Amino acid sequence: MRLVVLSGAGISAESGIPTFRDALTGLWACFDAERLATEDAFRADPALVWGWYRWRAAMVAAAVPNAAHMDVAALADDGHALTVVTQNVDDLHERGGAREVLHLHGRLLASRCIGCGARVMPDPILAAPAPPEGGAREMPPTCVQCGQAFRPDVVWFGESLPSDAWDAAEAAVDACELLIVVGTSSLVWPAAGLPDRALRAGTPVLEINPHATPLTPRATAHWSLAATAGMARLRARLQTTDASHTAFFD
Ligand code: APR
Repeated sequence: MRLVVLSGAGISAESGIPTFRDALTGLWACFDAERLATEDAFRADPALVWGWYRWRAAMVAAAVPNAAHMDVAALADDGHALTVVTQNVDDLHERGGAREVLHLHGRLLASRCIGCGARVMPDPILAAPAPPEGGAREMPPTCVQCGQAFRPDVVWFGESLPSDAWDAAEAAVDACELLIVVGTSSLVWPAAGLPDRALRAGTPVLEINPHATPLTPRATAHWSLAATAGMARLRARLQTTDASHTAFFD
C-alpha cells in the first residue's frame, strides 16, 4: 500500500524526548516553548534561545530511536511505499531507518547564519562542550561572513514552512491509500490540515495517540495507544489485511 505517516513529538516521547507541550524543565521550566520558538524571542535574548536549542540538540543526540521509529521505517521493508511527514525537528526517524523523511518544521541538529544563511561544519549546534544537565544561557556564534548570529535551522512560529517539504507532503498525502497520524496534538497548522486533505479525498486516516485530539472525531479510527504499541499493531494488521476492510481499524 501507499502509506504516509504524519508524526509529532509523541512518537519521540518513548525515546525520552519531552513533547512540545510537556512542561519545560531545568533552566527552561519558567518559559513557554511557544514563546521561546520565535525570532522575536531570539533577537530579544539570543543567549536564552540559543542555549535552549543547544540543550535540546544535546538531548536528541543522546537519545535513541524507539520501536515506533523502527516500525515506521520497517513499513518500507514490508513492501509498502512509505513517506514520513514529520513535525519533529529531531533525527530519530532517520536514525530509525526511514529513508524518505519530510521535515515540515526544520531540523534541530543544524544551524545557519540568521543574516546570510551561511552554514559551517561541524555544526555549532552540537559543538563541544555540551551544555550542562538542565541547560544554560549561551551566546550563539557569529557568522564569519557577515557578523550576524547563528540561529537553529527550525521553523519558528510566524515563519513559513519550507515549500519543498510542504509541497512534497501534500503530494504524498494526495497519492496515499492510508494516512497514519501518530503522536501529534493536531493543534498546529498547516500540518494539522493534512488529515482533512486525505479525508476529503476519501483516504482513511488512522490516529495513534493515547489521548484524544481535535482530529479524533474526524479520523476514520483512533487507537488510544502509545506510538510503540500502535505502530506494532499497525504493522501486524497490514501483514494480514488492508485498510479497505473496516475490520482493519477495529
Ligand atoms: N505515543 C503517542 N503519542 C503520544 C505519546 C506516546 N507515547 N506521548 C504523548 N503523545 C501525544 C500527546 O497526547 C500529544 O497529543 O503526542 C502529542 C504531542 O503533542 P505536542 O506536544 O503538541 O507536539 P506536536 O503535536 O508535535 O506539536 C506540533 O507544534 O509547537 C509546534 O513546532 C512545534 O512541531 C511542533 C508542533
